Amino acid sequence: MVVLTGAGVSAESGIPTFRDALSGLWARFDPEDLATPEAFERDPRLVTEWYDQRRQNCMRVKPNRAHVALARLQREMNAAGRAFRLLTQNVDRLHQAAGSCDVVELHGSIMEWRCVSCGESRERREPSLAPYPSRCGCGGLLRPDVVWFGEVLPESAVRLACLALEQCDLFISVGTSAVVYPVAGFAHLAKSASARTLEINLEPTPISATVDWLVLGQAGCRLPTLLQAAMGGEPW
Ligand code: OAD
Repeated sequence: MVVLTGAGVSAESGIPTFRDALSGLWARFDPEDLATPEAFERDPRLVTEWYDQRRQNCMRVKPNRAHVALARLQREMNAAGRAFRLLTQNVDRLHQAAGSCDVVELHGSIMEWRCVSCGESRERREPSLAPYPSRCGCGGLLRPDVVWFGEVLPESAVRLACLALEQCDLFISVGTSAVVYPVAGFAHLAKSASARTLEINLEPTPISATVDWLVLGQAGCRLPTLLQAAMGGEPW
C-alpha cells in the first residue's frame, strides 16, 4: 500500500495549504518572491524570515486524526506482514510526530536547514533562527532544506517513491491538489502498476476522474471512518 499526502492532511492541524482560495499561502504570497533560488539570492533576509515563521508554526501545532490514523495504518500493515510506504509533499514533519516511520519527504523538510557554503544540513528546533538572514557557524547563509520551484526533487526520495509505486496494489492520495509534477503523476504510475486507486480530498482534483474511488470530505474525518470500516478494531 502506498499513501501520498499533501497540504490538506495538515490543514486541520492549523498549517495553511498552498492553493486554497482564501487561506492558501500562494493566494496571499507570490512564490516567485519566496520559493525560488532566485528569490533567496535576491533577498535572503525576506526568504529566511518567512520560512522561519513557517518553521515556528510547525513546531507549535500537533498532528491531527489523519496523521494519527496513517501512523496506525502503517503499524497494523507491518504487523500483518504487508508492505506500506508513506510518501509526503509536506515539509512539516507532522507524520513523524504522529509516529509514522520511514516517511519519504519528496519536497524536503522545513525543519532541516542547509548551509549554502559548507553544505551541512541538520534539524533546527531552536525557537528562532533570527537574526535574518540566518547563518551557519561557518558564516555561510542557511536555507531551508525544502524543494523550491525550479529545483529537482531529492534523488533518493524519488527512487524510493518509484520503487514503492511499481510494486503497489493500493494507492491512496490524500489532501493534495495533484497539480505539482512529478508527484502529480504518481496516481498514474500506480495505475500503470495495476494498483487500485483511492482519493480523499475536500473537492475533486485533476486525478479524480481516473481514480477507482473518490471520497470527498475532510481527511481527519474521512480517513479514520474508512479505516474503521476496512480494518475494524478499536475506533480509529
Ligand atoms: P495544495 O494547497 O495545492 O492542495 C491542498 C489540497 O488539499 C487541495 O486539493 C484541497 O482541496 C485539499 N484539502 C484542504 N483541506 C483539506 C482537508 N481538511 N482534508 C482533505 N483535503 C483537504 O497543496 P499540495 O497539493 O500539497 O511544493 O501542494 C503541492 C506542492 O505545491 C507543495 O508541496 C508545495 C506547493 O508549491 C513546494 O513547496 C515545492
